[in-house]
Amino acid sequence: FPYLNSLLSRDYTPQLNPVMEPLSWMLGTWLSDPPGDGTFPTMKPFQYLEEVHISHVGQPMLNFSFNAFHPDTRKPMHRECGFIRLKPDTNKVAFISAQNTGLVEVEEGEVNGQELSIASHSIARISFAKKPHVEQITRKFRLNSDGKLEQTVSMATTTQPMTQHLHITYKKV
Ligand code: HEM
Repeated sequence: FPYLNSLLSRDYTPQLNPVMEPLSWMLGTWLSDPPGDGTFPTMKPFQYLEEVHISHVGQPMLNFSFNAFHPDTRKPMHRECGFIRLKPDTNKVAFISAQNTGLVEVEEGEVNGQELSIASHSIARISFAKKPHVEQITRKFRLNSDGKLEQTVSMATTTQPMTQHLHITYKKV
């Protein structure tokens, strides 16, 4: 490999692992369209832009990154990345995410057609994480009939019951 400058060759286009076929509708690069809506009882509603990459390298898992930006200044905001796994021969899904806020979480749930519903199973955080702490998270991803991907995130914190925090649709780019 005399010209190797990356271990994962740019020409390497592996087949999707058959285990991941039920989640193949999530694959791609996605851009918020329109901007996402942020809400929570403790805060003024806000909007955000988000760029999402969902890919694979042939392993029985997907790789993801979600990268949010301020809609006016385009300053980076929330970021998270991780993996999505499927229990082979079932519709059971595990979503593993590390967030730039110091949160690390595992969510589990099910894929049914082009809809994935998951809820937090375990949450860990850095010792100096900002308060209030999140105690529970649920998410729903769905591929709509117009080809757009939609994500809804709700959370419960130490001060608020389960309430919607994010809703966003993305177009494939
Ligand atoms: C606030 C969690 C994703 C933007 C918060 C708070 C929590 C939280 C616990 C504090 C709530 C309070 O003060 O009562 C999460 C979790 C996320 C997530 C668990 C992902 C699963 C995002 C994303 C954005 C965002 C994608 C997009 C920019 C904000 C903003 C605030 C906030 C602007 C208010 C200001 C602040 O506290 O920084 N979030 N968040 N969050 N979140 Fe999120």
